[in-house]
Amino acid sequence: MSSIDPAFAAFLDRLPKAELHVHIEGTLEPETIFALATRNGVALPYPDVETLRAAYAFSDLQSFLDIYYAGASVLLTEADFHDMAAAYLARAEADGVIRAEIFFDPQTHTARGVAMETVIGGLTRALDAARARGVSCDLILCFLRHLSEEDAFATLAAAMPFRDAFIGVGLDSSEVGHPPSKFARVFAEARRQGLRIVAHAGEEGPPAYVWEALDVLGAERIDHGVRSLEDAALTARLARERVALTVCPFSNVRLRVCDRLEDHPLKRMLDAGLSVTINSDDPAYFGGYVGANWRETCAALGLSRDEAIQIARNGFDAAFVDESERTRLVARLDAAIAADGI
Ligand code: ADE
Ligand code: ZN
Repeated sequence: MSSIDPAFAAFLDRLPKAELHVHIEGTLEPETIFALATRNGVALPYPDVETLRAAYAFSDLQSFLDIYYAGASVLLTEADFHDMAAAYLARAEADGVIRAEIFFDPQTHTARGVAMETVIGGLTRALDAARARGVSCDLILCFLRHLSEEDAFATLAAAMPFRDAFIGVGLDSSEVGHPPSKFARVFAEARRQGLRIVAHAGEEGPPAYVWEALDVLGAERIDHGVRSLEDAALTARLARERVALTVCPFSNVRLRVCDRLEDHPLKRMLDAGLSVTINSDDPAYFGGYVGANWRETCAALGLSRDEAIQIARNGFDAAFVDESERTRLVARLDAAIAADGI
């Protein structure tokens, strides 16, 4: 592991952060998976926590998703969804997260007979409690791209009675072979409903998927987008339009998008003028929450204080908040920087 000046590491830990790319089902720790399996009488294909954790040796996105969906099968009740989100929010707060935009995958649950109301109700109760403690947070509903357009439409319809509980929609799951354009009409309907738009693109899929996310879905941010650098015209556009990319360094290493953190394209993306942010994706599976992603990425890539501050600012610039909320969040960032004597 690369070394880092302890004072810089402490500065990064204290830095107020926005986390804009975290899947709530990806925050289920192995111990929690087993506790919920016992609580709910769900059988798991792993005998114990150690065996499950040992299976977290992924070769690509799909090898992870297979285990991630198996892990999520223990979630049945409103309390399960509440407890999962409450644990994440407490953990994120400890890492200095003051704004969290949290993905959830309702189809993973509704396909098992869990009601949309149970999923959204439990998550919302946890978010309300965090808001009461001063954490700014919202939910983004993600469609599973390996499922059909029809299923996505049915999911959007089932969620609309809870329209006030989420601010936007996204697109996740198996990327290659499921281009954004498959969901053009669903996202058009979501835009008509006033929802904010994001999409995973350019994680394993080609730059063409990033173009489609922007031009066909109307994505306002790109989740991952690390392969954008392969296309100079795309890179220039993303930079010119200040489209934020929610980059997840630990995820990219664990899913073999890049070999080592030292090889991660984040610094090259910054140098190309891209608005990158640092996020944890599925922290229970990828070896660390957002604070560890920040510390280790800054160390591995030799990022400067100014670069770290720029990445933090990018997160608040890209957050889906109104301008008064953005001003309040940025003021907290500025106050923390000033307090550190920079
Ligand atoms: N679902 C959870 N994590 C994901 C990722 N990194 N890419 C696509 N879908 C996901
Ligand atoms: Zn993701």
